[in-house]
Amino acid sequence: MKGSFITFEGCEGVGKTTQVDRLRRYLDESGQKALFLREPGGTAISEKIRAMILSKENDKMNGKCEALLYSAARAQLLGEVVAPALEDGTTVVCDRFTDSTFAYQGAARGLGTDFIDALNRLTCGDIVPDLTIFLDMPPRKAFARKGGADKNDRLESQSIEFHEKVYAGYKEVASMYPQRIVCIDASKDADGVWEDVIAVIRARTRVR
Ligand code: TMP
Repeated sequence: MKGSFITFEGCEGVGKTTQVDRLRRYLDESGQKALFLREPGGTAISEKIRAMILSKENDKMNGKCEALLYSAARAQLLGEVVAPALEDGTTVVCDRFTDSTFAYQGAARGLGTDFIDALNRLTCGDIVPDLTIFLDMPPRKAFARKGGADKNDRLESQSIEFHEKVYAGYKEVASMYPQRIVCIDASKDADGVWEDVIAVIRARTRVR
C-alpha cells in the first residue's frame, strides 16, 4: 500500500515549523510510521545544494539557476528517499515542495507559471502530494510576528515586495490546484491552527 504524501507551504514566519513539529509528535505518539523532510535538503547531496542556494556569497545567482538547483535537490530527494518510503507505505511529510518553486521562482523571480509547471513535472513525474497545507498569512504580518527576517538567509532577506510576490504566487497556485491545496488561516494561535491542520489531514489522507 502506498503511503500518504503531505506537504506544508507558506511564506517565511507563518509557523510552518511549529505545525510540522506538532504533526511529528502526533504521529509518533499514535505509533504511525512517518518520515519528515525539509526542502531543499533531506539527502547529503540535496543539503549541499541547499547550502549553495542559500549562501549570501551567491548573490549573483539568477532565477533560472535557482529554480534548477531547487529541482536538482528535489530530484535527488525523490529518488533516494521519498519514492522508496511511499512505496513502503510510510507517510511522508515535507516542509516545502514544488509550490515553493512556483511561488518563489515562478512568481517572485518572474519565471512564470508555464516554466515552473513544466519543470516540476519533469522533476517529479507522478510523485504529487496527496495533500498540501498552505498556511495562509500575508508576509508583513508574518515578519511582524517573527520579529523580522533572518539576514543570513539569501532568500529570506529579500525585500518585502519580493515576499508579497511570493504570497501572490501561493494564492495563484492554490487556485490552480484546489483539490490538492488546502488554505488554512495561519493568523490564529498555534493551537487553533493545529486543530485545523490535523482535521484536514485526517479527512484527506490515511493518517488517523
Ligand atoms: P526554509 O527556510 O523554509 O527551510 O526554506 C528555504 C528557503 O528556500 C525559503 O526562503 C524558501 C526557499 N525556497 C525556494 O525559493 N524555492 C523552493 O523551491 C524551495 C523548496 C524553497
